[in-house]
Amino acid sequence: MEADHFKESLLLAGAGKMGGALLRAWLDQGYDPRKINVIEPNPSPDLIALAQAQGFALQAPSRPPEILVLAIKPQSLDEAAAGLASFASRGTLLVSVLAGKTIANLSAKLPQARAIVRAMPNLPVSVGRGITALAANAAATPAQREAAEALLAASGGVEWLASEDLIDAATAVSGSGPAYVFYLSECLAKAGADLGLPEDVAARLARATVEGSGELLFRRAGSTPAELRESVTSRGGTTAAALEVLMAPDGLAPLIARAVQAAKQRAGQLSG
Ligand SMILES: NC(=O)c1ccc[n+]([C@@H]2O[C@H](COP(=O)([O-])OP(=O)(O)OC[C@H]3O[C@@H](n4cnc5c(N)ncnc54)[C@H](OP(=O)(O)O)[C@@H]3O)[C@@H](O)[C@H]2O)c1
Repeated sequence: MEADHFKESLLLAGAGKMGGALLRAWLDQGYDPRKINVIEPNPSPDLIALAQAQGFALQAPSRPPEILVLAIKPQSLDEAAAGLASFASRGTLLVSVLAGKTIANLSAKLPQARAIVRAMPNLPVSVGRGITALAANAAATPAQREAAEALLAASGGVEWLASEDLIDAATAVSGSGPAYVFYLSECLAKAGADLGLPEDVAARLARATVEGSGELLFRRAGSTPAELRESVTSRGGTTAAALEVLMAPDGLAPLIARAVQAAKQRAGQLSG
């Protein structure tokens, strides 16, 4: 990605876990700190030190920015909207990472903003390995879509969705997904301890297995997950014995499908 994507003035509202991770990624990617303002009611000492070291302003800008990134909690939107309204002009691109807040909700709260991009990042953005699903409204120009994409691509991959309706499904897969993988590591550790391994040893074995497998998926981008699985499964071996259980009709696939369905349903309930 070219650093000259980062030519727009930008206001980040909310520099907590997600906003803070995005901010650090932009700075790492060469976004000009003099074009960044951050509004954060209770800035952490780390954020204050970062502002001093990098030179971005930890205060509201004097005029509406070209891009307003909303990274407050969804439940703070109603309260925050009045204070933010003056920063969303007709020419401002609004990029929201708020889970469950639809483009219609955002438009109702910040009616001055015409171009809106909804983004659903996930926690690995904090280590530059996130994946973000994006959906734009019709008012967003190609240049604005490109600017939103560059902002999110600073911290990992991006996938445009054909319609905003698919955001809940993306939330269920990749937004909530890191927790499923952490839980897999927990389950594997418990199963190992149940087989007699000391708990700490089982936890380290399970954790490193998930870490290493994720790294392999990342590095062998030319292979599908199924190909990687097949490459470590010999006929009649130990892995095959385990996969026979996991891949049975009542195995992992229907369980994951139910879990993802529950997450999608919840995302729908939280909208509004
Ligand atoms: N964390 C994730 O993995 C993840 C994934 C996808 C999407 N998201 C979305 O990212 C958003 C932020 O989540 P988070 O986990 O980063 O939450 P968080 O750590 O609580 O960050 C939100 C920050 O916004 C601040 N804030 C509240 N009102 C504000 C206002 N009017 N103006 C400016 N800042 C304000 C909060 O300050 P106070 O704490 O002092 O109120 C807090 O520091 C949420 O909408 C969430 O749906 C998060």
